[in-house]
Amino acid sequence: MRIAFTGGSGKAGRYAVDHLIGLGHRVTNLDLVPLDHPEVHNLCVDLTDAGQVFNALSGYAGHDELDVVPDRDGDGPIPVPSYDAVVHFAAVPAILIRPDNETYRVNVMSTYHVIDAAVKLGIAKVIFASSETTYGVCFAAGEILPEYLPVDEDHATVPQDSYAMSKVVNEATARSFQARSGIDIYGLRINNVIEPHEYERDFGRYVADPALRRRNIFAYIDARDLAQMVERCLLTDGLGYQVFNVSNDDTSVAITSAEVIERFYPTVPIRRPIEGHQTFYANERARTLVGFEPSHTWRERFD
Ligand SMILES: NC(=O)c1ccc[n+]([C@@H]2O[C@H](COP(=O)([O-])OP(=O)(O)OC[C@H]3O[C@@H](n4cnc5c(N)ncnc54)[C@H](O)[C@@H]3O)[C@@H](O)[C@H]2O)c1
Repeated sequence: MRIAFTGGSGKAGRYAVDHLIGLGHRVTNLDLVPLDHPEVHNLCVDLTDAGQVFNALSGYAGHDELDVVPDRDGDGPIPVPSYDAVVHFAAVPAILIRPDNETYRVNVMSTYHVIDAAVKLGIAKVIFASSETTYGVCFAAGEILPEYLPVDEDHATVPQDSYAMSKVVNEATARSFQARSGIDIYGLRINNVIEPHEYERDFGRYVADPALRRRNIFAYIDARDLAQMVERCLLTDGLGYQVFNVSNDDTSVAITSAEVIERFYPTVPIRRPIEGHQTFYANERARTLVGFEPSHTWRERFD
């Protein structure tokens, strides 16, 4: 596939871009800064500028494409290949990095422009990064508990911070563009992304103090498994508009899920049994609809 990937220079994007290239796809990275990868073509784009987004998504993906074409008899425009899919990860990825209004503006306007351009240019699939924060727990002032456990995609999304608000708005934008166009648009409510080196660095603290993981609903997603989720979404057509929780199967703490419930969620309704170290961030929809099968766990580093 010929894929436009936004935010491919970032923490999560890097793994997904490398994974997609490893599968044989052609990836163009649209980001403010380039990714140092020998097989990626970088286009430095500010996605908050609609003109740049439309231009980038309708342009060449590399110098080699200049040789493929062209119609030189002058009776039509020189055809440029179309992207098969857009994966949109670029964002300000949390509160307290930029001022709240800027986080909101960048995330909302870049997502509007990317999906608008994809639809108008006839690109058949858009996968975009939403967030666990939409459930309102992560960046709450004080503590907000989940309404029930495990938290699935039907849980209310009424967050109170600018970053998560931007992600909820992006989901509404995506849903409306999908209704208008009929293309496939899948949103990923990504949990806390963990890179392999972060297990050694951080998980000792999480073992010692599980409360450190409360704001992430005790869940996580390995960056390599998130890359697999992107692959699965590219392979699965015809689902229309969907949102998926994306997490690993287990929690990010050493105590059992029953102990977590006893310590942190004694008043929260439990909708189905949560065994062993099973996650509180339900990923069944991703498993069922696109065949997501997370294969990494921090426990293999600590056992
Ligand atoms: N990291 C996490 O734990 C986590 C959790 C849930 C959701 N997410 C979401 O996943 C996505 C990737 O997150 P990440 O952790 O890799 O973030 P990151 O900050 O590491 O990467 C984001 C990338 O977007 C680019 N970018 C920002 N503004 C841009 C603009 N105006 N134009 C073009 N590029 C721009 C940045 O240069 C950066 O390379 C984001 O949408 C984030 O909100 C991340």
